Amino acid sequence: MKHVAIAALAAVLMGGVAHADTIKVGVVGPFSGPFALQGKNFKAGIDAYMALNGNTVGDDTIEVIYRDIPSADPAQSKALSQELVVKEGVQYLAGFYFTPDAMAATPLLEQANVPMVVMNAATSAIVTKSPYVVRTSFTTWQTSTPIAKVAFDGGTRKVISVVSDYGPGVDAEAAFKAGFEAAGGEIVEAIRMPLQTNDFSPIMQRIKDSGAEGVFAFLPSGPTTLGFVKAFNENGLKAGGVKFFAPGDLTQESDLPALGEAALGLTTTFHYAVSHDSAENKSFVEAAGKAIGDPAELSFPAVGAYDGMHVIYKMIEATGGEPDAAKAVEAVKGLSWESPRGPVTIDAESRHITQNIYLREVAKADDGTYYNKEVQTFEKQGDPGLAAAK
Ligand code: PHB
Repeated sequence: MKHVAIAALAAVLMGGVAHADTIKVGVVGPFSGPFALQGKNFKAGIDAYMALNGNTVGDDTIEVIYRDIPSADPAQSKALSQELVVKEGVQYLAGFYFTPDAMAATPLLEQANVPMVVMNAATSAIVTKSPYVVRTSFTTWQTSTPIAKVAFDGGTRKVISVVSDYGPGVDAEAAFKAGFEAAGGEIVEAIRMPLQTNDFSPIMQRIKDSGAEGVFAFLPSGPTTLGFVKAFNENGLKAGGVKFFAPGDLTQESDLPALGEAALGLTTTFHYAVSHDSAENKSFVEAAGKAIGDPAELSFPAVGAYDGMHVIYKMIEATGGEPDAAKAVEAVKGLSWESPRGPVTIDAESRHITQNIYLREVAKADDGTYYNKEVQTFEKQGDPGLAAAK
């Protein structure tokens, strides 16, 4: 008893509360260049979480440090992550919009005793690269599997697949093919485009020439998806009745004002729509809208980041702010909560998020704006990609 009193007195004399620290979170993402809006959404989600939950956990103050990586650049990602750990002393790494950037930082984690919370990168295998990776976004296996069923059930039998030629595109192609062929459909051709492709007219011609009734497409959200959907319209495929199937990356809300009628009626499957009808999403959209400035710029990376911060706060709580990556990750295995997207759980085995996937249709609201309208729910979807990779 006496010892406790002396310790408490010592803590007060030494400058107040014992162990009050600043805990740094390093966030790597595209904050300039063509994908800057995606990074801006990371920041909006993080700011919204801290506005609604405070910037302290226990006695510790949370500080977020941002590092800019304009496009997929694994060497740069590794260098920036290392600098955040060694020079800035971050206890957590987070963000990572592009798969190659997330992959490149995973070898640092165990040695540095730092967990990584992936807020976007969507290739299934990322979580297998280190036991310290937790993901709060989605995988393209998870989001592309349900749309294959939607396509077949809607009567489409012949599809051409068009994806960006890197991790999440290759996964999306495999997911759609597996689901569509198992149902009895046929993939007539599978095109993989270089990630840098920005002229989609030749691709549209190949889609026309293939004789497919529909196209399945995946590209990472940004100028890429805007260009692809525009080209689909401008080259007459939409008007010509070619059916369009994709995960929701292709119709992110921030692209809809520029796409307008070109996007109207497009069906996609995804984990999050800004229009999702729930109390949690209402307060999220309000806070994130305020953080980003123009609410029309809100898109899915904001919710991945918001939930990522929730996971990081839980990790800090469980470790009392001490650097203990193993304990931090252990503490969030099986963690469930109500996200703005719906109910979610960090799967204890994979450390990837289990969530509802929604079928949505781009619709026009009474005020003339376009939005993703949720029309069907595929409940509690895990990541089929991990089983496929084994
Ligand atoms: C990725 O690189 O993993 C990625 C990027 C953007 C997306 C989806 C996946 O929309």
